[in-house]
Amino acid sequence: MDIETRAAVAPRMEIRDVTPGDVPRLERVLTGAHAQQLANAVAGRRAFLAAWRGEEPVGTVVVRWTGVPVDGHGPVPEIGSLEVVPARRGDGIGSLLVAAAEQRVRERGGTAAAIVVAQDNRDARRLYERLGYRDTGARRAADGGAGLLLVRTLAG
Ligand SMILES: CC(C)(COP(=O)(O)OP(=O)(O)OC[C@H]1O[C@@H](n2cnc3c(N)ncnc32)[C@H](O)[C@@H]1OP(=O)(O)O)[C@@H](O)C(=O)NCCC(=O)NCCS
Repeated sequence: MDIETRAAVAPRMEIRDVTPGDVPRLERVLTGAHAQQLANAVAGRRAFLAAWRGEEPVGTVVVRWTGVPVDGHGPVPEIGSLEVVPARRGDGIGSLLVAAAEQRVRERGGTAAAIVVAQDNRDARRLYERLGYRDTGARRAADGGAGLLLVRTLAG
């Protein structure tokens, strides 16, 4: 998909914090542990965002404030649990969700974001590379297997 097509998705999309009333609607179309994510968000441990096209939820992302230790940075907020409904993949929604998550990191004064991606999830790795994430060489557990620790430095 080209950049203009991706940009055309943006005006029809709204990305906002998940509320309790959203959870049943997310459960119908996405696989994440939404009630648990919301409980962690309410406790201040993470941000939990969902993307909507009108009344239709199309994706979610989380920022874990505890972060992951990264050499040279200390603990870095971790973006994770990124998921887009299968019918809408490739439309730029995943990229917009990562951008929204990065904005939350900036708003809290963060200067970098981390992502752990399963080594065999080549499609997601390509997406994160395109968005500026680089392999630190460190490894972390991800989805029960080996994960690559990626980091992006965020401009102010
Ligand atoms: C990874 C994921 C969130 C990307 O969302 P998306 O809205 O399709 O992302 P975008 O449209 O912004 O970017 C598309 C990129 O995602 C990647 N991608 C991953 N799976 C894809 C799919 N099924 N269809 C299209 N692109 C996919 C490609 O690298 C693509 O890049 P390209 O356009 O340069 O080929 C989505 O495919 C998904 O929910 N996958 C299952 C859950 C998952 O693997 N999450 C990541 C865990 S770290």
